[in-house]
Amino acid sequence: MSDTKLRIGVVGLGTFVEIAHMPTYFNSRYSEILDVAAICDVNVDRLKEWGQKYNIPGQYTSLDEMLAKANLDAVTIVTPDHTHTPIALKAIEAGCDVLVEKPLAMNIKDCHKIRQAALKKQRRVITDFHKQEDPAHQEARSRVRSGRYGELQFGYVWMQDAITVPAGGFFKTALAAHSSPNWFLGVHFYDCVRFITGLDSWKVKATGYKQVLGPERGINTYDAIKADVIMNNGAALSFYLSWNLPENIPSLTRQGIYFQFAKGETYIDTRDRGFFESTYQAGYKAVNPMFLRDTEHGKAGYGCESIGEALRQFHDLKLASRATYQQLEDKHPSGINGFYATLTGQAVDTSLAQGTSLQGGQIVIGKEVDCNDLLQSELGNDAKEYLVNVAK
Ligand SMILES: NC(=O)c1ccc[n+]([C@@H]2O[C@H](COP(=O)([O-])OP(=O)(O)OC[C@H]3O[C@@H](n4cnc5c(N)ncnc54)[C@H](O)[C@@H]3O)[C@@H](O)[C@H]2O)c1
Repeated sequence: MSDTKLRIGVVGLGTFVEIAHMPTYFNSRYSEILDVAAICDVNVDRLKEWGQKYNIPGQYTSLDEMLAKANLDAVTIVTPDHTHTPIALKAIEAGCDVLVEKPLAMNIKDCHKIRQAALKKQRRVITDFHKQEDPAHQEARSRVRSGRYGELQFGYVWMQDAITVPAGGFFKTALAAHSSPNWFLGVHFYDCVRFITGLDSWKVKATGYKQVLGPERGINTYDAIKADVIMNNGAALSFYLSWNLPENIPSLTRQGIYFQFAKGETYIDTRDRGFFESTYQAGYKAVNPMFLRDTEHGKAGYGCESIGEALRQFHDLKLASRATYQQLEDKHPSGINGFYATLTGQAVDTSLAQGTSLQGGQIVIGKEVDCNDLLQSELGNDAKEYLVNVAK
């Protein structure tokens, strides 16, 4: 056991742990500060597979047992979205800092509970919003906030996956049926837009389509959702979110942002990095080396750096005296970022739930939802600290 490394416990050993977490823990420039002391999964086969592959001593099917026995500094939560809250609450209660995969939770009450628990125990909560580590978004933030473009007026944001993601064996569990393009894709960009512009969502109205995954693939979720959001400065944004594109598109994910400001515009295509390949097996494909790439120092890219930088912060907290909760939350993607992305996500769900159905429920035209009304109805008095400040 090392006293200087960060002792982490990893909960959930599915697809994303394999794509991004394990490479970050064991094969990146962050590896030297990390000691993966324990892993936990309800699936024994996955526990054995990963335990053997990396020779991890602590293997647990019970989270309680892992937290009681493994003497951890931090826990990373890589389980399906709807399971994040109870795991995060227990890990914080056990005195651990927590890194939670996006979304932090699937409703604002749960996000608030997680933040309150972290405040009480003075622990750090970070949501893994890796779009904040993409150099294109970091440069956009700096340029937008310099004032060179003036006020944001309107824009559109797109994140669309191939149908392989919800219906092609991408996930190791039935995650897709508990999720939607709103939760799996939208939250990435609800957070990213806030990260770049500093603006909050104010009024939300969604339109949803259930024409393929439910009727043809037996997965009860939306294929596609368009979320129209008026931001708190009056800017109008549309988020185009879907996970039913054909499986042979040039990349699993297509994504980007267009913003028009009063005195300028930005166009960021974060799928097209100017790198394409074609092979006999897979045909013509786009490559995104910004997300993950092999280097002489192991894996790099925003997919790995957002995890690594979060754990580096936990490591700093372990070695130095702990900062106050407020200082902690002001840095990097935190519980508060997780809260506001989930606020937009819940407003989209609420809009659709209160909407009007067409074609036997295959199309839903949502109602407009005011985020401040949603905050007040969900959190009562506690809504005060989160209310969206609308430009008068
Ligand atoms: N940042 C990204 O780009 C990105 C990409 C993919 C997934 N994710 C997020 O990562 C999380 C996991 O996604 P995934 O694709 O790996 O899912 P997955 O379905 O492939 O794997 C989930 C794993 O969690 C385990 N699990 C389920 N409930 C558990 C519990 N209560 N305790 C312990 N283990 C449990 C399952 O057995 C499975 O091994 C989700 O929140 C997802 O949104 C993020």
